[in-house]
Amino acid sequence: MGLTDNQKRLIQAVSLNDIQAAKKCAIACVAEDATAKNKYFCTKYKAVLESTGCNMMELLQNLKGLLVLEDTSISFREGRYYLSDREAAVFRGITRMRKVNARLMELGIPYVNSTLLYGESGTGKTTFGRYVAYKAELPYCYMNFSGLVDSYMGSTSKNISKAFSYAISNPCVLMLDEIDCISIARSGSGDSSGSGGEMARITISLMQEFDRLPNDVIVIGATNRIDRVDDALLRRFSVKHEVKALSQEEKTAMVKRFLSDVGISFPDEEIATLVAQGNQSLVLNGLIRHIAERISEEIA
Ligand SMILES: Nc1ncnc2c1ncn2[C@@H]1O[C@H](COP(=O)(O)OP(=O)(O)OP(=O)(O)O)[C@@H](O)[C@H]1O
Ligand SMILES: [Mg+2]
Repeated sequence: MGLTDNQKRLIQAVSLNDIQAAKKCAIACVAEDATAKNKYFCTKYKAVLESTGCNMMELLQNLKGLLVLEDTSISFREGRYYLSDREAAVFRGITRMRKVNARLMELGIPYVNSTLLYGESGTGKTTFGRYVAYKAELPYCYMNFSGLVDSYMGSTSKNISKAFSYAISNPCVLMLDEIDCISIARSGSGDSSGSGGEMARITISLMQEFDRLPNDVIVIGATNRIDRVDDALLRRFSVKHEVKALSQEEKTAMVKRFLSDVGISFPDEEIATLVAQGNQSLVLNGLIRHIAERISEEIA
């Protein structure tokens, strides 16, 4: 049986990323199915489609740039991620807190499972957040504050509220990346007008939203300038963990793990040269270039 007109319109709307049109077509699709075998499915999804709650794709459109939602069960490749013992301990802490928090919730005690990662650039802070979402099997709700100053002044507080509304109604890993960017101006000029004042309002609104989060959200903050993070914001994180660059042995293990996942091997001397290139981010870049060269030689 070929596609119906409604199914064709649905495919078209999804391809154009037009969620509203896609929803209408999906409703039309379930409405036209009168078979007994699909009755439960159609009734359920008609109700879901017609509800006003926001879903991932809608949010993605509304908050483009400030908030990104990622399904890490599809995008994260665990076989290419090296978990050091230090970060494994942090992960265990987050997992334990998740269980404690569920109990606290039953007792009516609000508590946010929040961890701040700080450390040099390229040490894997953002990647660790994705790893946590992947392992916890939760949506990864990513907010990056670095582009805020130029692009989002004015509408930012409203957008932060929207993003947090998502987190309040959907258990997720909420990653607040580069949080130093919203704090600098707050402590900066001290005036209550202009960008300093707007930044102060944004930071305050972020903290207010933070305090409304339910126990089942995992918050991970990240910064490479912890010295610039506002004290009041810093206090909201119950765990503060410095992410350090991997040692030589750890980088070697990371490279071998990556190579084993892609099914390629390099001699130990080549791996040693790669590992000497710097922190894990630089090593991985070098490794990918090396793999590309190998493939290029093979196809030449
Ligand atoms: N432990 C790791 N295993 C595998 N890849 C890693 C690891 N740590 C970092 N990487 C890789 O290094 C790159 C940089 O990592 P990431 O962006 O997470 O660092 P960061 O600490 O958030 O840096 P910045 O402070 O600049 O935002 C990414 O491409 C990531 O895939
Ligand atoms: Mg980062």
